[in-house]
Amino acid sequence: MPDLDTIVQDIAQEMRARPDRGTVASYIPELARADAQAFGLVVIDGDGRVAAGGDADIPFSIQSISKVFTLTLALGMVGDRLWRRVGREPSGSPFNSIVQLERENGIPRNPFINAGAIAVTDVILSGHQPREALGEILRFMQFLAQDDSITIDERVAASEKRTGFRNAALANYMRSFGVIENPVDYTLGVYFHHCAIAMSCRQLATAGLFLAYSGHHPLAGHSVISAERARRINAIMLTCGHYDGSGDFAYRVGLPGKSGVGGGILAVAPGKASICVWSPGLDAAGNSHLGRIALEMLVKRTGWSIF
Ligand code: DON
Repeated sequence: MPDLDTIVQDIAQEMRARPDRGTVASYIPELARADAQAFGLVVIDGDGRVAAGGDADIPFSIQSISKVFTLTLALGMVGDRLWRRVGREPSGSPFNSIVQLERENGIPRNPFINAGAIAVTDVILSGHQPREALGEILRFMQFLAQDDSITIDERVAASEKRTGFRNAALANYMRSFGVIENPVDYTLGVYFHHCAIAMSCRQLATAGLFLAYSGHHPLAGHSVISAERARRINAIMLTCGHYDGSGDFAYRVGLPGKSGVGGGILAVAPGKASICVWSPGLDAAGNSHLGRIALEMLVKRTGWSIF
């Protein structure tokens, strides 16, 4: 293992000083309160060795990073039947785009764009009350992060509910095709709340370990999913994890990764480490600007690209 502490500290220091910080998301008003100066980076390996830099322990809104974990849960519940309701191709469109749905019979392109994640949430909800489904998701996050203190930021959830007209449009449109089966308000309520889970870089990097170690979570001491399923989730992260910035992320970083509009990115270096970076300013595709740059630097210095 390279001297990760030095690498992570160097990157955190350089990122702190950079003037180009991207733009903090404001379409969910509560997210606009995030501090554009914040920067955190945590790398954890299978032996539990941690290299942490900057704001490693400040909780932020995980937003779309939650979609990796809801996908994992839904696959555990219904297996490959999930792929009848959602595809696994990159969309080449923004994360909240609606146009493809009409051409493709209400089936979202993949589980990481908003429409796809809403369909996945609907699968988790089936047969449960929204409160139960949400509890299931939150407990899964707490277990994977090995930290029971993780909570949902109710202000962020309420803020998104008040302004989530586009997600409501996507959900209603999918309901018209039967892709959403539960009452739209229930499905959206669970979706808004799991996006509003607040976690730190350290907690998210811990939670992602099972993806870096073939489905086995080395710190929890549990097999979370099979090696085959972990490989497949990583493949979808690589091809779809950054929306229409996924190709550029693969080109520059070369790791499976999932971004969120809260400015976090969870990245997986198979067999090497689980990584989480956070910087709230976003690029034009809605992905963390400095987060991507920091990961590019990390991969350059560690040689961890999968290519
Ligand atoms: O539905 C939304 O718009 C947000 N809850 C999540 C979007 C998101 O994180 C996109 N990521 N870059």
